[in-house]
Amino acid sequence: MTQDEMKQQVAKAALDYVVTDTIIGVGTGSTANFFIDALATIKHKIKGAVASSEATAQRLKGHGIEVFDLNMVDQMSVYIDGADETNKHMHLIKGGGGALTREKIVAAVADKFVCIIDETKKVGVLGTFPLPVEVIPMARSYVAREIVKLGGEPVLREGFKTDNGNVILDIHSMDIMEPVKLENQLNSIVGVVTNGLFAARPANVLLIGTQNGVNVEE
Ligand code: A5P
Repeated sequence: MTQDEMKQQVAKAALDYVVTDTIIGVGTGSTANFFIDALATIKHKIKGAVASSEATAQRLKGHGIEVFDLNMVDQMSVYIDGADETNKHMHLIKGGGGALTREKIVAAVADKFVCIIDETKKVGVLGTFPLPVEVIPMARSYVAREIVKLGGEPVLREGFKTDNGNVILDIHSMDIMEPVKLENQLNSIVGVVTNGLFAARPANVLLIGTQNGVNVEE
């Protein structure tokens, strides 16, 4: 089975977590795209969705799924999204696609966060995948210097702007031994919008696509 086939099977398995007659949150990325395509087959069962990026909103609308503004929604049953890495505590690195801030906001509102990954994303220690940090453009150099003080190597994602009009610094060469602590440290640097560690609010359910089917961790 290819990596894409594993992503596709785990995306289909996530349909079991869709709560009938509610508004659900939908993530961003290739695994989330497979999920959106699968969701289209049961779209009559939900009221609609909140999107974590412009790209996801377009894909949902393309399937005829109603997209709600988060400010119009006071409750969300579930948020379903991929990740770039996870450890055994369901702490995640996200933001490979640059949508980390909206993803974190939607995840915060949802009652349950179901994370859908293929088996290549499970690691012992987070940090092999560069950790994205969304930064207000004028603070870029200052934030980069502060990240160096924390022991990381920040690299500007060239030619990229987030849906919020900001830049991304990807932090390389960091073994993330204390994800909750680092998430808070990075978020307290002035000029940081947020970072791609989802540790203070980890996933609640992990669905892992493997060569032998889908594993569930709760
Ligand atoms: C998007 O910003 C990310 O958080 C994605 O959820 C993450 O990069 C996983 O992407 P894939 O499903 O494409 O691997």
